[in-house]
Amino acid sequence: MPLRSASRMGVTTISVPLGQRSYEVCIAPAGAVDMAQGIAAALGKPTGAAVLVDSRLGELSPRVQPLVEALATHLPRVRRLDLPAGESCKTLAAIEHTCGWLADNGYDRGAALVGIGGGATSDHTGFAAAIYLRGIAYATCPTTLLAMVDASVGGKTGVDLAAGKNLVGAFHQPRAVMADPAFLDSLPTREFAAGMAEVVKAGLIADAALLDTLEAQAGAPMPAAVLARVIEAAVRVKVDVVAADERESGRRAVLNFGHTVGHAIEAASGFRLLHGEAVSLGMIAALALGVARGVTEPGLLVRMTALLARLGLPVDVKHRLGADVLDRMGFDKKRVSDKVRFVLVPRPGQAIVEGIALDDLKPQLLAAL
Ligand SMILES: NC(=O)c1ccc[n+]([C@@H]2O[C@H](COP(=O)([O-])OP(=O)(O)OC[C@H]3O[C@@H](n4cnc5c(N)ncnc54)[C@H](O)[C@@H]3O)[C@@H](O)[C@H]2O)c1
Repeated sequence: MPLRSASRMGVTTISVPLGQRSYEVCIAPAGAVDMAQGIAAALGKPTGAAVLVDSRLGELSPRVQPLVEALATHLPRVRRLDLPAGESCKTLAAIEHTCGWLADNGYDRGAALVGIGGGATSDHTGFAAAIYLRGIAYATCPTTLLAMVDASVGGKTGVDLAAGKNLVGAFHQPRAVMADPAFLDSLPTREFAAGMAEVVKAGLIADAALLDTLEAQAGAPMPAAVLARVIEAAVRVKVDVVAADERESGRRAVLNFGHTVGHAIEAASGFRLLHGEAVSLGMIAALALGVARGVTEPGLLVRMTALLARLGLPVDVKHRLGADVLDRMGFDKKRVSDKVRFVLVPRPGQAIVEGIALDDLKPQLLAAL
């Protein structure tokens, strides 16, 4: 499995141009002090800062406490709250706990939140910031590959309900995203591979050269400088799409590539599959469907199957498309009436959205695989 060796490398800053809500994503092997300075500068002069930390990350990574301490030297009234690890922080109960804790600790409307953790932490932090006292500022330090390239960029925040994932939420843009790839040192291999699925997606929908880079690297350890470039390229894809469609009314749908089938497979697995693993399978299904509909270059399916497998991701989608999975596609949030807005990739770096009737989609998918 190709892995990373995050160490020192150059600092990259990517602007997210959203008018008054603009901010910067910094990909920086910056070290705690520089990260804290960058966050403090972006937050302006908050009256206090609450640092929300994924509790498992807090146990595993030696980088967390120095960062919290550095934040405390650059921001007023810094207190740390450890969140339930991973997805378990994405509940309304956990949000209520965080908001109660903020109130008990006297954080007012001028205060800010800083989230340190994966996508679950950034979703929790952003949503708490969106609703506490009707909205306060926040920044995130993403610590998983998926959070760096996807979850922390774009301002979608939220939590899960028993009825489904991400059903309650708000758009609330951060003031800064500060990603140090060195945090990935402690990330389990499986989680790293899952993040790579979203990197491949970014390449497929908008950056053919990123796919070339991944193919040149997959199978060997990825040098730190290459990993930083890969993260940067994937972030740029997401930033470009978000900047063109902040509220997901049009272009942003292309980010859903691989997700119509992927979400259904993920849910049908009882969430035993990681999101990125399900997206890998969903991308294979979407490419196969594109080939069957005469939209996608046939060679691309072969190429991407090989790449995703070499990245340590599952590709055996045919055996996973049971009736339960196909039925779940009908519940896709992105569905419009009886049609699913399905994203297809004709060639590397290009995505199109087609409305496909649900009744046609199921047999076409089964025939395509
Ligand atoms: N808002 C968005 O636009 C958006 C986009 C994509 C995904 N998401 C959300 O992101 C979440 C998935 O994010 P994720 O994959 O980062 O998962 P996660 O936040 O659940 O983290 C995965 C696991 O890794 C641990 N962890 C985090 N950083 C670590 C590190 N550096 N070292 C060791 N362990 C570490 C966590 O404790 C957790 O167990 C989902 O809830 C998904 O809905 C949101």
